Amino acid sequence: MRRGLVWVVAALCGLGAARAETPDQRASALVAKLTLDQELTLLHGNFALRAYDAAYGLPPAPPVPGALGSAGYVAGIPALGIPALQEVDGGLGVSVPPDAEDGKGSTALPSSLALAAGFDPRMAYEAGAMMGREAFDRGFNVLLAGGVNLTRDPRGGRNYEYLGEDPLLAGTLDGALIHGVQDQHVLATLKHFAMNDQETNRQFDNALIGEAAFRESDGLAFEIALETGHPMAVMCAYNQVNGQYACANHHLLDDVLRRDWGFDGFVMSDWGAVHSALDINAGLDQESGQEFDPVTYFSTPLSVALSQGLVTRARVDEAVRRILRAELTVGLMDHPPVRQPIDFAADGAVAAQEEAQGLVLLKNHRLLPLSPAIRRIAVIGGDANTGVMSGGGSSDVVPKTLPQLLPVVQMGEGLAGRYTRAILDPDPPLSEIERQAPGAVVRYDPGLYPGAAARLAKWADVVVVFAPKWETESQDVPDLSLPGGEDALIAAVAAANPRTVVVLETGNPVLMPWLPNVRAVVEAWYPGAEGGKAIAGALFGTIDPSGHLPMSFPANTAELPRPVVPGQDAAPGQITPVDYNIEGAEVGYKWFSARHLPVLFPFGFGLSYTRFSFTHLSHGPGLTVSFDVGNDGKVAGATVAQLYLSARNGVAMERLVGFARVALAPGETRHVVLTIDPRLLADFNVAGDDWVMPGGVYRFGLGDSAADLTESLTARLPAQHVAP
Ligand code: GLC
Repeated sequence: MRRGLVWVVAALCGLGAARAETPDQRASALVAKLTLDQELTLLHGNFALRAYDAAYGLPPAPPVPGALGSAGYVAGIPALGIPALQEVDGGLGVSVPPDAEDGKGSTALPSSLALAAGFDPRMAYEAGAMMGREAFDRGFNVLLAGGVNLTRDPRGGRNYEYLGEDPLLAGTLDGALIHGVQDQHVLATLKHFAMNDQETNRQFDNALIGEAAFRESDGLAFEIALETGHPMAVMCAYNQVNGQYACANHHLLDDVLRRDWGFDGFVMSDWGAVHSALDINAGLDQESGQEFDPVTYFSTPLSVALSQGLVTRARVDEAVRRILRAELTVGLMDHPPVRQPIDFAADGAVAAQEEAQGLVLLKNHRLLPLSPAIRRIAVIGGDANTGVMSGGGSSDVVPKTLPQLLPVVQMGEGLAGRYTRAILDPDPPLSEIERQAPGAVVRYDPGLYPGAAARLAKWADVVVVFAPKWETESQDVPDLSLPGGEDALIAAVAAANPRTVVVLETGNPVLMPWLPNVRAVVEAWYPGAEGGKAIAGALFGTIDPSGHLPMSFPANTAELPRPVVPGQDAAPGQITPVDYNIEGAEVGYKWFSARHLPVLFPFGFGLSYTRFSFTHLSHGPGLTVSFDVGNDGKVAGATVAQLYLSARNGVAMERLVGFARVALAPGETRHVVLTIDPRLLADFNVAGDDWVMPGGVYRFGLGDSAADLTESLTARLPAQHVAP
């Protein structure tokens, strides 16, 4: 063997031996070398977005040495090869400050509701990978993405960051997204654990939920995301759960997350969610955003608690070990970020694909797709000549070009500054519509005056009205109506010309009093960096709309579990209950279905420009179910086959137990096989801390929405116990 080769083999063996150590072994070896002071520096971190100090009500402070300038920064220990944690938001793209050094922002993904509406785990992985790459390219090694709170309340200000009302859908997609992020050697954060399902009084609301109901709803979404995405960080939430703050909740952090679900990463707090150094004894490992806490608990107070024997050194060692093991598992030490230009073209294509798959056609009465030969098009409202709406808060993304900032009136007591203006992603639908119909005269009206808009509508062959609704972290919306007189505008335009299509750019369901008077409605959610192209493509049919609703569109708020959002009149610091036991695990469609309450549009609903059939539903072996999906129309398209449990031993219920997104050419048929997770057929058994699936007769329904199941199947299944 040549000498050179000998060296290579020897080096590889040596390397191999060095790397044969597991992340846990390497973490333990590092912990053994750390002094207590060094350990404590790893247990708390800064808020490092200095540009926003005033907006967050923080005293002006000098920049954090070593921080890139983002949501979070935890100092490292270079002498031991422990990197600093450069933490950046969020779930919809890399949220760097507008003054990012290259004057550019990042690629804004559409709302997560668009991702959820696509029902496509592969798309979720690609979205996570894209965000992870952009974070890595900018030098960040932690992306605070992975929100999976269920959209229990359709007025929730952050629902646009979440993945809908069903735990199977939300957990499956969140796990895939997290997997995509962490494959880029960037840590993701499963958040906000747990029950942070509204923004009103979020730091002081007390979520009341029974154990079984939690484990069968929000808990199941987190559990599935944990199993499928293997996040190495979990962010505990601001609120209390059953009277104990989430970040000091031993039952949640130790019993459920670690003992039952086997989580082996670390728990970081949300920014300002720590209340004592002793929170470490409940399973919290790291204090984030220390400036938001009255004192940096995991520094001197923790040191004092150690000296008083209130916290053990072993617990501190364990917290540090978890953090280092997480970093080593994801590759932060072996693959530090390399600064390089962002590939906005490739990343924009990911955003475009996600919106194309997630845009939902809610109504189409012989109007869409529009013909490219159409002569006169009126485009009205929604700043459609400038861009598309996006949501506010920590997940907002400064677009790749200078941000189009639209000042928004403060909606309430939410955080000032950063959370009071909407960013328009600069892909104007108007110019994309012009591109789709080069021979048409396209005229735009901002929609400020319904009379003027109606006159333009009268002139046009077809009218496209844009209806945005800005929503944000830290504030829920008071109701489901469109703001700013948009309902009156749409009514006036539709009265002038019934050939009207409404394009919603919203972060939640909305009421539609004008629905009978318009010919078509598209829900585009927050459309993202390439949203204008996707909307125009769907209007003209170059994209077949294929999204299906990840959350129900209610007919009113009176029939919601909580007709009024709790805690709106809370005094500062007042603990207010949010009684989730009203609906328990019956979130969204389960609530409406169990009570036979009508909805405007059901969970899972979405139209297409073609037609699909679902046939040959059959069972076996075990918990597998198979069926055929056919495209019976004249154009290519995609649909989402949804399998629901409809009854168990004669008791009616409705649970999504499987889904498959299927793209088909005209006339094509696809055979689909699904395997049902037994937990979805079971009840969580608190006493035994396991899942009990009773034996007996199970009835399933198959279709393309919770309200339209065209195939059914009855199967006798044996009892099962499923350990968590
Ligand atoms: C915020 C959010 C969290 C975000 C963090 C850092 O308050 O709740 O999602 O990652 O603080 O900005």
